[in-house]
Amino acid sequence: MSRKLFIGGNWKMNTDRDSAASLASGLVEAIGSVEEIDVAVAPPSVYLSAVGEVLKGSNISLAGQNCWYEPNGAYTGEISTDMLLDVGCDLVILGHSERRHVLGETDELINRKVLKALDAGLDVILCVGELLEQRQAGQTNDVVTRQVKIGMEGVPSSFSEKGEKGKKGLPERLTIAYEPVWAIGTGVTATPEQAQEVHAMIRSLLADMYDRQIADGLRIQYGGSMKPDNAAELFAKDDIDGGLIGGASLKVEDFASIIKAGM
Ligand code: PGA
Repeated sequence: MSRKLFIGGNWKMNTDRDSAASLASGLVEAIGSVEEIDVAVAPPSVYLSAVGEVLKGSNISLAGQNCWYEPNGAYTGEISTDMLLDVGCDLVILGHSERRHVLGETDELINRKVLKALDAGLDVILCVGELLEQRQAGQTNDVVTRQVKIGMEGVPSSFSEKGEKGKKGLPERLTIAYEPVWAIGTGVTATPEQAQEVHAMIRSLLADMYDRQIADGLRIQYGGSMKPDNAAELFAKDDIDGGLIGGASLKVEDFASIIKAGM
Protein backbone atom coordinates (compact mmCIF):
# COMPACT_ATOMS: atom_id res chain seq x y z
CA MET A 1 0.00 0.00 0.00
CA SER A 2 1.64 3.22 -1.02
CA ARG A 3 0.47 6.38 0.62
CA LYS A 4 1.43 9.87 -0.51
CA LEU A 5 3.91 11.25 2.01
CA PHE A 6 2.78 14.18 4.13
CA ILE A 7 5.40 16.42 5.70
CA GLY A 8 4.54 19.24 8.09
CA GLY A 9 6.65 21.99 9.60
CA ASN A 10 5.72 22.95 13.15
CA TRP A 11 7.27 26.34 13.84
CA LYS A 12 6.03 26.32 17.46
CA MET A 13 6.60 29.65 19.25
CA ASN A 14 9.42 30.70 16.94
CA THR A 15 9.95 33.37 14.25
CA ASP A 16 8.80 36.98 14.22
CA ARG A 17 6.73 38.62 11.52
CA ASP A 18 9.65 39.22 9.16
CA SER A 19 11.39 35.90 9.65
CA ALA A 20 8.08 34.03 9.33
CA ALA A 21 7.41 35.72 5.98
CA SER A 22 10.92 35.16 4.70
CA LEU A 23 10.94 31.51 5.82
CA ALA A 24 7.65 31.08 3.95
CA SER A 25 8.92 32.75 0.80
CA GLY A 26 12.12 30.69 0.90
CA LEU A 27 10.01 27.56 1.11
CA VAL A 28 7.76 28.65 -1.74
CA GLU A 29 10.83 29.14 -3.89
CA ALA A 30 12.48 25.86 -2.88
CA ILE A 31 9.55 23.45 -2.74
CA GLY A 32 6.40 25.48 -3.42
CA SER A 33 5.45 23.51 -6.51
CA VAL A 34 6.04 20.04 -5.06
CA GLU A 35 3.30 17.62 -6.09
CA GLU A 36 4.65 14.23 -5.06
CA ILE A 37 4.32 15.06 -1.36
CA ASP A 38 1.74 16.95 0.68
CA VAL A 39 3.42 19.79 2.56
CA ALA A 40 2.09 22.09 5.28
CA VAL A 41 3.55 24.63 7.66
CA ALA A 42 2.20 25.72 11.03
CA PRO A 43 3.38 29.21 11.98
CA PRO A 44 2.46 30.92 15.27
CA SER A 45 -1.18 32.00 15.11
CA VAL A 46 -0.46 35.73 14.96
CA TYR A 47 1.53 35.20 11.76
CA LEU A 48 -0.91 32.86 10.02
CA SER A 49 -2.33 35.62 7.82
CA ALA A 50 1.07 36.96 6.83
CA VAL A 51 2.42 33.51 6.03
CA GLY A 52 -0.82 32.56 4.25
CA GLU A 53 -0.37 35.54 1.92
CA VAL A 54 3.11 34.34 0.99
CA LEU A 55 1.95 30.75 0.45
CA LYS A 56 -0.91 31.75 -1.87
CA GLY A 57 -0.66 30.00 -5.22
CA SER A 58 1.88 27.47 -3.91
CA ASN A 59 1.24 23.85 -2.99
CA ILE A 60 2.14 24.44 0.66
CA SER A 61 -0.84 24.33 3.02
CA LEU A 62 -1.30 26.47 6.09
CA ALA A 63 -1.91 24.85 9.47
CA GLY A 64 -2.84 26.09 12.92
CA GLN A 65 -0.91 24.76 15.91
CA ASN A 66 -3.99 24.46 18.09
CA CYS A 67 -7.65 25.46 18.32
CA TRP A 68 -10.56 25.51 20.77
CA TYR A 69 -13.65 23.31 20.58
CA GLU A 70 -16.36 25.93 21.09
CA PRO A 71 -17.34 28.10 18.13
CA ASN A 72 -17.02 31.47 19.88
CA GLY A 73 -17.56 33.16 23.21
CA ALA A 74 -15.78 33.80 26.48
CA TYR A 75 -12.55 31.83 25.95
CA THR A 76 -9.85 34.39 26.48
CA GLY A 77 -6.71 33.60 24.55
CA GLU A 78 -8.22 30.81 22.48
CA ILE A 79 -8.68 30.47 18.71
CA SER A 80 -11.76 29.02 17.05
CA THR A 81 -11.83 26.74 14.03
CA ASP A 82 -13.69 29.43 12.06
CA MET A 83 -10.88 31.86 12.83
CA LEU A 84 -8.32 29.39 11.49
CA LEU A 85 -10.41 28.86 8.36
CA ASP A 86 -10.86 32.61 8.02
CA VAL A 87 -7.11 33.21 7.84
CA GLY A 88 -6.67 30.46 5.27
CA CYS A 89 -5.82 27.33 7.26
CA ASP A 90 -6.58 23.95 5.74
CA LEU A 91 -5.66 22.00 8.82
CA VAL A 92 -4.74 22.10 12.48
CA ILE A 93 -2.26 20.24 14.68
CA LEU A 94 -3.92 18.89 17.83
CA GLY A 95 -2.60 17.07 20.89
CA HIS A 96 1.02 18.06 20.39
CA SER A 97 3.15 16.79 23.27
CA GLU A 98 3.91 20.32 24.38
CA ARG A 99 0.19 20.99 24.68
CA ARG A 100 -0.25 17.75 26.59
CA HIS A 101 2.75 17.95 28.89
CA VAL A 102 3.46 21.67 29.25
CA LEU A 103 -0.10 23.01 28.99
CA GLY A 104 -1.82 20.02 30.59
CA GLU A 105 -4.20 18.99 27.81
CA THR A 106 -5.97 15.68 28.38
CA ASP A 107 -7.02 13.06 25.83
CA GLU A 108 -10.65 14.05 26.44
CA LEU A 109 -9.98 17.72 25.71
CA ILE A 110 -8.00 16.84 22.61
CA ASN A 111 -10.86 14.62 21.44
CA ARG A 112 -13.32 17.51 21.68
CA LYS A 113 -10.98 19.63 19.58
CA VAL A 114 -10.50 16.87 17.00
CA LEU A 115 -14.27 16.46 16.58
CA LYS A 116 -14.82 20.19 16.31
CA ALA A 117 -12.02 20.76 13.82
CA LEU A 118 -13.16 17.93 11.53
CA ASP A 119 -16.73 19.10 11.71
CA ALA A 120 -15.69 22.66 10.87
CA GLY A 121 -13.87 21.46 7.76
CA LEU A 122 -10.29 21.58 9.00
CA ASP A 123 -8.13 18.52 8.45
CA VAL A 124 -6.37 17.31 11.57
CA ILE A 125 -2.91 16.14 12.54
CA LEU A 126 -3.42 14.26 15.81
CA CYS A 127 -0.16 13.91 17.75
CA VAL A 128 0.52 11.00 20.08
CA GLY A 129 3.62 9.68 21.79
CA GLU A 130 5.05 8.30 25.01
CA LEU A 131 7.34 9.88 27.60
CA LEU A 132 10.79 8.42 28.17
CA GLU A 133 9.80 6.86 31.49
CA GLN A 134 6.76 5.29 29.86
CA ARG A 135 8.96 3.73 27.16
CA GLN A 136 11.41 2.50 29.77
CA ALA A 137 8.55 0.97 31.73
CA GLY A 138 7.35 -0.90 28.62
CA GLN A 139 4.16 1.19 28.40
CA THR A 140 4.62 2.67 24.92
CA ASN A 141 1.88 0.67 23.21
CA ASP A 142 -0.59 1.20 26.04
CA VAL A 143 -0.01 4.95 26.14
CA VAL A 144 -0.22 5.40 22.38
CA THR A 145 -3.26 3.13 22.12
CA ARG A 146 -5.09 5.19 24.74
CA GLN A 147 -4.15 8.46 23.02
CA VAL A 148 -5.38 7.23 19.63
CA LYS A 149 -8.55 5.62 20.97
CA ILE A 150 -9.68 8.53 23.12
CA GLY A 151 -8.37 11.17 20.72
CA MET A 152 -10.43 9.67 17.87
CA GLU A 153 -13.51 8.68 19.84
CA GLY A 154 -16.61 9.49 17.81
CA VAL A 155 -14.64 10.34 14.67
CA PRO A 156 -16.62 8.92 11.74
CA SER A 157 -15.07 7.01 8.87
CA SER A 158 -16.33 9.51 6.32
CA PHE A 159 -17.63 13.06 6.20
CA SER A 160 -20.14 15.19 4.32
CA GLU A 161 -19.03 17.54 1.56
CA LYS A 162 -18.25 20.12 4.20
CA GLY A 163 -14.60 19.10 4.47
CA GLU A 164 -11.86 21.18 2.97
CA LYS A 165 -11.73 20.71 -0.81
CA GLY A 166 -14.56 18.21 -0.62
CA LYS A 167 -12.41 15.54 0.99
CA LYS A 168 -14.68 12.93 2.49
CA GLY A 169 -12.77 9.91 3.72
CA LEU A 170 -11.20 9.75 7.16
CA PRO A 171 -7.72 9.01 5.74
CA GLU A 172 -7.85 12.26 3.78
CA ARG A 173 -9.06 14.28 6.75
CA LEU A 174 -6.94 13.01 9.61
CA THR A 175 -3.26 12.19 9.97
CA ILE A 176 -1.65 10.74 13.07
CA ALA A 177 1.77 12.03 14.09
CA TYR A 178 3.68 9.58 16.27
CA GLU A 179 6.10 11.74 18.21
CA PRO A 180 7.92 10.02 21.08
CA VAL A 181 8.28 12.82 23.62
CA TRP A 182 11.89 11.87 24.37
CA ALA A 183 12.79 12.53 20.73
CA ILE A 184 11.20 15.97 20.39
CA GLY A 185 13.75 18.75 20.26
CA THR A 186 16.35 16.56 21.94
CA GLY A 187 18.47 15.56 18.96
CA VAL A 188 17.71 11.93 19.85
CA THR A 189 15.73 10.47 16.97
CA ALA A 190 13.86 7.19 17.32
CA THR A 191 15.56 4.55 15.18
CA PRO A 192 13.62 3.70 12.03
CA GLU A 193 12.89 0.31 13.63
CA GLN A 194 11.56 1.83 16.86
CA ALA A 195 9.35 4.21 14.91
CA GLN A 196 8.16 1.54 12.48
CA GLU A 197 7.17 -0.75 15.34
CA VAL A 198 4.85 1.85 16.87
CA HIS A 199 3.51 2.96 13.48
CA ALA A 200 2.59 -0.64 12.63
CA MET A 201 0.92 -0.99 16.02
CA ILE A 202 -1.13 2.19 15.39
CA ARG A 203 -2.14 0.90 11.96
CA SER A 204 -3.42 -2.38 13.32
CA LEU A 205 -5.27 -0.49 16.04
CA LEU A 206 -6.95 1.60 13.31
CA ALA A 207 -7.95 -1.60 11.53
CA ASP A 208 -9.66 -2.72 14.76
CA MET A 209 -11.29 0.67 15.33
CA TYR A 210 -12.40 1.16 11.69
CA ASP A 211 -11.45 -1.28 8.96
CA ARG A 212 -8.45 -2.43 6.96
CA GLN A 213 -9.05 0.03 4.13
CA ILE A 214 -9.07 3.04 6.43
CA ALA A 215 -6.07 1.75 8.36
CA ASP A 216 -4.16 1.27 5.11
CA GLY A 217 -5.06 4.69 3.76
CA LEU A 218 -4.50 6.84 6.85
CA ARG A 219 -1.11 8.50 7.03
CA ILE A 220 1.08 8.22 10.10
CA GLN A 221 3.85 10.81 10.34
CA TYR A 222 6.91 10.42 12.50
CA GLY A 223 8.11 13.39 14.54
CA GLY A 224 11.04 13.95 16.86
CA SER A 225 14.41 15.32 15.76
CA MET A 226 13.84 14.45 12.12
CA LYS A 227 16.59 16.00 10.02
CA PRO A 228 17.90 15.92 6.46
CA ASP A 229 20.33 13.14 7.35
CA ASN A 230 17.84 10.76 8.99
CA ALA A 231 14.65 11.49 7.03
CA ALA A 232 15.20 9.10 4.12
CA GLU A 233 15.73 6.03 6.30
CA LEU A 234 12.60 6.85 8.30
CA PHE A 235 10.52 7.40 5.14
CA ALA A 236 11.79 4.07 3.81
CA LYS A 237 9.83 2.19 6.47
CA ASP A 238 6.51 0.68 5.40
CA ASP A 239 4.31 2.48 7.90
CA ILE A 240 6.08 5.86 8.08
CA ASP A 241 4.18 8.19 5.78
CA GLY A 242 5.94 11.47 6.36
CA GLY A 243 7.07 13.64 9.20
CA LEU A 244 6.17 16.43 11.56
CA ILE A 245 9.26 18.58 11.78
CA GLY A 246 10.03 21.13 14.47
CA GLY A 247 13.58 22.51 14.63
CA ALA A 248 14.58 21.57 11.10
CA SER A 249 11.47 23.26 9.66
CA LEU A 250 12.83 26.65 10.69
CA LYS A 251 15.57 26.51 8.06
CA VAL A 252 14.57 26.58 4.41
CA GLU A 253 17.48 24.40 3.38
CA ASP A 254 16.87 21.72 6.02
CA PHE A 255 13.12 21.53 5.52
CA ALA A 256 13.53 21.46 1.74
CA SER A 257 16.13 18.67 2.05
CA ILE A 258 13.72 16.64 4.15
CA ILE A 259 11.02 17.09 1.51
CA LYS A 260 13.49 16.07 -1.20
CA ALA A 261 14.48 13.02 0.84
CA GLY A 262 10.87 11.90 0.54
CA MET A 263 10.69 12.32 -3.25
P1 PGA B 1 11.57 18.50 16.55
O1 PGA B 1 10.03 18.74 16.89
O2 PGA B 1 11.66 18.15 15.11
O3 PGA B 1 12.25 19.80 16.87
O4 PGA B 1 12.04 17.38 17.43
C1 PGA B 1 9.04 17.91 16.36
C2 PGA B 1 7.68 18.36 16.84
O5 PGA B 1 7.55 18.76 18.00
O6 PGA B 1 6.69 18.31 16.09
